[in-house]
Amino acid sequence: MSRPKSCRSRPDLNNSQEKVSVYKASAVAHSNLAFVKYWGKANAELNLPLNNSISMNLSSAQTHTTVEFSDALTSDEVFLNDERLDPTGFFWKRVSQQLDRVRALAHVEMVASVHSRNTFPSGVGIASSASGMAALTVAATAALKLDLAERELSILARLGSGSASRSIPSGFVEWLAGEDSQSSYSHQIAPPEHWAITDVAVVVSASEKSMASSDGHLLALNSPFLRTRLASLSDRLNVMRRAILDRDFETFGRELESEAISLHAIAMTSAWESPGAWHSGIYYWTPATIELIQATQDWRRDGLHVYFTLDAGPTVHLICPKDQRSAVIDAIRTLERRQKDRQWTLIESEPARGAYVTDTDEAN
Ligand code: DP6
Repeated sequence: MSRPKSCRSRPDLNNSQEKVSVYKASAVAHSNLAFVKYWGKANAELNLPLNNSISMNLSSAQTHTTVEFSDALTSDEVFLNDERLDPTGFFWKRVSQQLDRVRALAHVEMVASVHSRNTFPSGVGIASSASGMAALTVAATAALKLDLAERELSILARLGSGSASRSIPSGFVEWLAGEDSQSSYSHQIAPPEHWAITDVAVVVSASEKSMASSDGHLLALNSPFLRTRLASLSDRLNVMRRAILDRDFETFGRELESEAISLHAIAMTSAWESPGAWHSGIYYWTPATIELIQATQDWRRDGLHVYFTLDAGPTVHLICPKDQRSAVIDAIRTLERRQKDRQWTLIESEPARGAYVTDTDEAN
């Protein structure tokens, strides 16, 4: 099928209705959880990271997006979970900028209607920007019949949100930092079925995180310990990659926890100023986060195979071999009940496939 033509003026609707429907596609992408994290950018405009990162796609954290380019619209419209986004807001702008990148590649100017739905809550420590940007990129490029390879899709998704580049390939993934836009992309280390591990995300707080990742990346440069962290990452990446390939859970777990604490050590020592106030660092943890961190170490002493990781938020991700998941969930629920009236949401995921085009339409 040929690509849509560039359309500068609004055409006769009777004609375009038939044509417009061709420029529509849907895609599904999973969010991903970084085992070795992206924290700090070498180039903020291009989302070039300071270091490689390694992740796993999360089966329970899905975004399903339908994009329809149309001559009948006058500006991009975006619906997230059936709610129309404000065109002056941050999320609408991010989506529209990503559509601009796709339009530029396809040499078209048509605006688009985007319908997107997440299977998981946003702002709770599971990156909806990763699955959202990956699904948007795959749906929009498919709608405009752009035939892009996985590497190119990963580069394009990265421009929308860095971690989205890792949601394009399947399973266990490494994002190569690269030196310029073309060399900064993600590729598969191992397919989803390679290793039966489970992530239990313990959502301890329903409120939004205290500082968006995009701002945290920039503030990382303020930490006096960033250089030390970066110096240790090349070894960490090698050990982590090897541990995944060898399914060596203990080595994997030690790197996983040390890495999470390393990111938070940078965040907590990234001093910043807001109007009228100085802050010594960014603190993403709540008391329940620390309770879970300490409990995980106790559970290990008691024989459970479980390690934690944390992103830029209070949610604690507990990773265990799949056959340990019910013991881990029992332990979490027992801890939860220690304090009256608290309710934690648990989201269980296994390694998932990468982003793909689907026939199911999110707009209906
Ligand atoms: C802590 O990919 O959300 O989750 O590129 O500015 O969109 P932008 O940042 P984003 O950062 C994710 C940070 C992290 C670690 C990680 O996923 O590697």
